[in-house]
Amino acid sequence: MAAAADNIELINRILRLKEQRNAVILSHNYQRPEVQDIGDFVGDSLELSRKAAATEAAVIVFCGVHFMAETASILSPGKTVLLPDAESGCPMADMITADALVKKKQEMPGVHVVCYVNSSAAVKAESEVCCTSANAVRVVESVGPGEILFVPDQYLGHYVSTQTKRPMVLWPGFCPTHLKIKPEDIISNKQKYSGSVALVHPECRPEVTAVADHVLSTGGMLKFAGQTNAKILIIATEVGILHRLQKENPGKTFIPANAKALCPNMKKITLEKILWALEDMQPEIRVPEDIRIRARTAVDRMLAA
Ligand code: 13P
Ligand code: SF4
Repeated sequence: MAAAADNIELINRILRLKEQRNAVILSHNYQRPEVQDIGDFVGDSLELSRKAAATEAAVIVFCGVHFMAETASILSPGKTVLLPDAESGCPMADMITADALVKKKQEMPGVHVVCYVNSSAAVKAESEVCCTSANAVRVVESVGPGEILFVPDQYLGHYVSTQTKRPMVLWPGFCPTHLKIKPEDIISNKQKYSGSVALVHPECRPEVTAVADHVLSTGGMLKFAGQTNAKILIIATEVGILHRLQKENPGKTFIPANAKALCPNMKKITLEKILWALEDMQPEIRVPEDIRIRARTAVDRMLAA
C-alpha cells in the first residue's frame, strides 16, 4: 500500500474500524490514488457489482458514485451500503428520470429498454436489462427481436449499435468528463509517441472512438495493458485510472489523452470521509423495496450476460 506518511494514522484507523464493522471497501478505478490503495477490491462497474453481490461482509463501503452504491444495495439488501460522500453523483445518470422513461415507453409500445448501469435504481426498475461498458455488446446481442431503446448514454449506445449492427433509439445523455476528450488528443499523442497504442472508453464521442486502436471499459484497459507488448499507451478515459495502470505496469508508460478528463464526483471521496462513514455508519444508501425488486431483474440479467 503506497500511502503518504501523513495518511498512515488515518489508514490505520480505517483498517481497525473496518475490521470491527466487518466491512469491505470497494473502490472504482477512477477514485483518488489513496482511496484505490485502501480498497479491498478496485475495479470497473461490472467487477464491483459482482463483488458487491458476492461479499460476505456485513457492510460495503462503496468508493464510487451514487448509482454504484445503489446497485450494491439492489444486489445485497441485507447489507449496509455506505457511500462516504452522499453528494458523489453522476451527471449522466441524472439526465434521465423514471417518469421520463415511462413516458417514452408509452410512445414505443413493446420496446426493449437497455439501460446503462450509470442510471438510478428507479430507471433500472423501468428497464428490461442493464449493462456496463464491459458487457454492453453482449447484453444487446442477447436482446430478442424488436426495437431497442438505449438509455441514458447516447455515445455508448451508438458504439454498441455499430458493433452489434442493431439500430437503437438513443437517449440523449452523455458523460461531461468523457466529452472533454477530442479526436486531436488521440491523433497528436499518437504522432508524438511512435509505436503507442490508444485505448478509448466507449463513453467518448464517435469521432474519438473512430481513432482508437481499441475501445474498452476501464477493466478492459487494465487487462489489455497487462498483456500487450506495446510500451506506451494513450489512455482516453477519466484520469484516475492512470494510478492503477502505472502501479500494475511499472515498465510501461501511460499518457492521458486529455489530462482535463477528470470526474469531480469521483474525487469527492477521501480517506477522511471513509473513516467518518465507518464511524457514523452514514451516509447509508438503501433502495426502497418495491423499486429494488423491479430493478433487481434488470441487474441480474446484466450479471448473467
Ligand atoms: P467502467 O464501467 O469502465 O468502470 O466506467 C464507468 C464509468 O464511467 C463510471 O462512471
Ligand atoms: Fe458519471 Fe462520467 Fe463521472 Fe462516470 S466519469 S461517474 S459517467 S460523470
